[in-house]
Amino acid sequence: MNPTISRLKILDIVPFGSGPKHEFFALRLTPPKWESCAPGQFVMLRPLPARSEAVCPRPFSICKLTGGHLIVFFQVCGRVTAEMAALQAGDTVQVTGPLGNSLPVRADRPTLILAGGIGIAPFVEYVDKHPRPATLTVEFAHRHPLACYPFEGIAEKCAARSHMETVEQDRDAIVALMEQRIREFAPAGLVLACGPTPFLRLVGNTAAACGAEAHLCLETRMACGIGACQGCVVKALLPAADDAPPVLRSGPAAPPDDGAFVRTCACGPTFRADQVIF
Ligand SMILES: Cc1cc2nc3c(=O)[nH]c(=O)nc-3n(C[C@H](O)[C@H](O)[C@H](O)COP(=O)(O)OP(=O)(O)OC[C@H]3O[C@@H](n4cnc5c(N)ncnc54)[C@H](O)[C@@H]3O)c2cc1C
Ligand code: FES
Repeated sequence: MNPTISRLKILDIVPFGSGPKHEFFALRLTPPKWESCAPGQFVMLRPLPARSEAVCPRPFSICKLTGGHLIVFFQVCGRVTAEMAALQAGDTVQVTGPLGNSLPVRADRPTLILAGGIGIAPFVEYVDKHPRPATLTVEFAHRHPLACYPFEGIAEKCAARSHMETVEQDRDAIVALMEQRIREFAPAGLVLACGPTPFLRLVGNTAAACGAEAHLCLETRMACGIGACQGCVVKALLPAADDAPPVLRSGPAAPPDDGAFVRTCACGPTFRADQVIF
């Protein structure tokens, strides 16, 4: 489906979690012109009217798309997400999508989903649209209380557990659990992960060590989201046909297995773990 630019109205914006200051929100929008998308795809979104033309839209995973609405789930972490948190029902946002490739769906293979923090967002749609959710297992690592995240809907449809990192010392146990789960799913299962870079590096390294097929959905910073600015490059080993083409070679003298800089928005955001060079 070709991406289109739409102006969508906000139906409602629902804060998640408790406490005086909310950081997590589900933004429910009127449906875009495009009626379908694949789980793992994303949109570029910005509030309108734009405060400044210099402010680029920001990438957000498609958390849920139905005939009635599009939901984006976001965490406030800077300028645009703070503006988004102040939006109200009836306000307008600009949405470009659907963008990017999708997370692989293999109903014939047990699938382990590893999500870190806001990396849970694309899996809401993934679990919802999966033909056999009973084959899915979700392990979710997070630092904020569970009520801050859209976890409940996922846990209703498949086996899902959450692991909160309350103090730094909790991390070792969470890392050990993730490693153990990846080993359990190798080699027959499929491993999917989305989250911060150190989390994805852990998944990629563990999967490589035990021969698991893993796919990583990257949260690289993006400026245009449509392949024009080269602001989202990561180093990757892609077969020539998978890229269109790698935009920046790592240097004329670089050996072929040294990888090339490819645009996350044009070639991803999901890559096979053994293709990404962290
Ligand atoms: C494909 C994709 C899907 C995404 N899906 C979601 C989603 O569903 N929900 C969600 O809340 N966020 C998601 N993100 C991340 C989201 O795009 C950023 O949080 C957002 O761009 C921040 O914009 P801002 O203007 O508020 O922050 P800025 O003012 O631009 O930056 C504030 C701070 O956040 C850091 N930052 C900004 N972007 C990122 C990033 N991508 N990774 C790590 N640090 C960053 C900056 O370094 C800076 O320190 C996704 C990113 C990608 C690439
Ligand atoms: S964000 Fe501009 S090329 Fe990817």
